[in-house]
Amino acid sequence: MSILVTGGTGYIGSHTCVELLNAGYEIIVFDNFINSKPEAIQRTKQITNKDFKFYKADLLDRSAMEQIFTKNQIDAVIHFAGLKAVGESVEIPLRYYHNNVGGTLILCETMAKYNVKRMVFSSSAAVYGNPATVPIREDFPLSTTNPYGSTKLMIENILRDLYISDPEWSIALLRYFNPIGAHKSGLIGEDPNGIPNNLMPYIARVAARKLEVLSIFGNDYPTKDGTGVRDYIHVVDLSLGHIKALEKIMQTSGVEAYNLGTGIGYSVLEVISAFEAASGQKVNYKIAPRRAGDIPECYADSVKSKKELDWVASRDLKEMCEDSWGYINKLASFKKAGRPL
Ligand code: NAD
Ligand code: UD1
Repeated sequence: MSILVTGGTGYIGSHTCVELLNAGYEIIVFDNFINSKPEAIQRTKQITNKDFKFYKADLLDRSAMEQIFTKNQIDAVIHFAGLKAVGESVEIPLRYYHNNVGGTLILCETMAKYNVKRMVFSSSAAVYGNPATVPIREDFPLSTTNPYGSTKLMIENILRDLYISDPEWSIALLRYFNPIGAHKSGLIGEDPNGIPNNLMPYIARVAARKLEVLSIFGNDYPTKDGTGVRDYIHVVDLSLGHIKALEKIMQTSGVEAYNLGTGIGYSVLEVISAFEAASGQKVNYKIAPRRAGDIPECYADSVKSKKELDWVASRDLKEMCEDSWGYINKLASFKKAGRPL
């Protein structure tokens, strides 16, 4: 079976390509490298010892999409390509709507034209806005607090309408919680440009002495220790969730949303301790004011994913921290050796 992976050189995309290849799927990958590097292609091949076709192409380029569908036999699409920085989406919302929503429209139109009607879509826990209670179930009310989240909710609605118009479509909306960690090889992982916005890459850089001190955004939340609580999930577990979702959409038609989280919430202080234990490094931190738009607590109810996808996350916080640290060290050794990252 042959799967088109959009955004396949990105953080989650590259890990999912590895798991797809390991599971015996044929893959065709494209990316425009707006937030990733070509080296991910070679790394994915190196880890799996398997080959695949790659196109440098933009989701917004209709003729490039047509070419990919003309030249390849495609059974289903896993759609990762999109912009994902929440703060940036507030500053340049039109770019986010254009890229994420506009790009998905072009992709869906091309898929319909070539009669490919199966898709796994990267949605986000951002579609739950500020949930009234936790754990969060898939049938909770949906709302958003920033343009990035709005692009995800809009795309979910577009995909639902698409199915209503043509019940041959089969779509899984995967709502990711907080993916962290990296492949055990240390060859692929998350290495954001500039100063990281998210907790784990920031912690890793403080531990590696690339940044001086982590600001904890608030210690007066109504949580176990006052700091924000999130559902961190190992990126490999998340990737395996895509394989299960793919199996599901190949057997059925419809649109279903699934949470991909562990169901366990950890506070910022707990993540720092776990990272210190895993890395043997001190993570310097200070308490800072709350970050605008943050919610106190967010973790998944993962019952539906377990029941309907037969998927559960099995890697714990210790392993997530060890693998994030392993990747940072590998990156540093590549940089030192002057090899491309
Ligand atoms: P990423 O930025 O590492 O990967 C996205 C990839 O899409 C990048 O390689 C980028 O170059 C590519 N891309 C973006 N716009 C494109 C376009 N117009 N044409 C072609 N390629 C394009 O991000 P990620 O963390 O791997 O996330 C993958 C998906 O999952 C995204 O849609 C993201 O919104 C969603 N998601 C991520 C998280 C997270 O915390 N990482 C959480 C929830 C949802
Ligand atoms: C991020 C996304 C959100 C997405 C969610 C799950 C942002 C701003 N939001 O949010 O859209 O739905 O992942 O994929 O990117 N923290 C600090 N100091 C830091 C960084 C973070 O204390 O330097 C705290 C935050 O306040 C929060 C926790 O760490 O309590 C996690 O933060 P982060 O990694 O940014 O993820 P989310 O806020 O969950």
